[in-house]
Parts: sequence; structure tokens; C-alpha cells
Amino acid sequence: QPVTYELLLNGRSRQVTVEEDTPLLWVLRDLLGLTGTKFGCGMGLCGACTVHLDGTPARSCLLPIAAVAGRAITTIEGLAQDGQHPLQRAWVSEGVPQCGYCQSGQIMTAAALLADQGQPSDADIDSAMSGILCRCGTYDRIRRAIRRAAV
Ligand code: FES
Repeated sequence: QPVTYELLLNGRSRQVTVEEDTPLLWVLRDLLGLTGTKFGCGMGLCGACTVHLDGTPARSCLLPIAAVAGRAITTIEGLAQDGQHPLQRAWVSEGVPQCGYCQSGQIMTAAALLADQGQPSDADIDSAMSGILCRCGTYDRIRRAIRRAAV
């Protein structure tokens, strides 16, 4: 039985009507057209689907819509409300992506890290980023870009 939910998404209120166990990732991509968040494994293992939930990185493939209603959701499309986030500029400067598929999950995870710790150590970066898989192995460039964006 579909239910109508009020979402606080990228600073705006959005309504969706879906089954209560529909994962947030499906709502973002298929209903709302926000395709910057990627489907990788669908099982919480790869991190390609990472968004922010109340400022904390969360895997949207595992989040039923009923669990996120009324909480602040940020996707890559809403990360920088105007222009680019410093991480996005650093990503361009360092030429981070190869195939690009995991990169919004990487950037969302890194953005939460920098919001929490302005000057993370290499160990902080590695521990925050370790669960976000990149099959192209862009990890060194990711680390460099995070260091570049750190203020
Ligand atoms: Fe969600 Fe892989 S698609 S963790």
C-alpha cells in the first residue's frame, strides 16, 4: 500500500508516494530524477549510493523511505547550493575520476569528513574513505584531492 512521505531533500521539501520499504536510492533516482547517486551493489557493500542523512554519510540503498522521512537528506546535487563544493574543485584539479561511477559516493563521504574535521590526517582520510570502493583504484588521487580541499 503506497504511503505519501514528506522528504527534506537538498534543503527543499519534496513529497513522494511509495511503498514504505522502498529504498531511498530508488526514490532519488527513479522518482525524483536525481541520478548523481549511483547504484552499485544494492547491499550496502560498495558505497556508490552514499548520501548525507542529517549530515552523516549513509548508504541510500539500505535506507527504507519510511526511515528517512523528515530527516535532512543531501545528495551530490545539493552538496554545493551555489557553484561547486571545494572538494568538487579539488576533484577536477587532481583529475580524480577514471570511469567516474563511484565518485559521488567518494565526494559525499569526503565532504562529511571535512565538515567534521577541517584538517584530517592521512589516517583519518583512510579510515573515513576505506569503505567506498573504486574498481579503477583512484584512491591515491582521492587522497590528494581531499588534502587539497582541506582548509
Ligand atoms: Fe549501496 Fe553499494 S549500492 S552500498
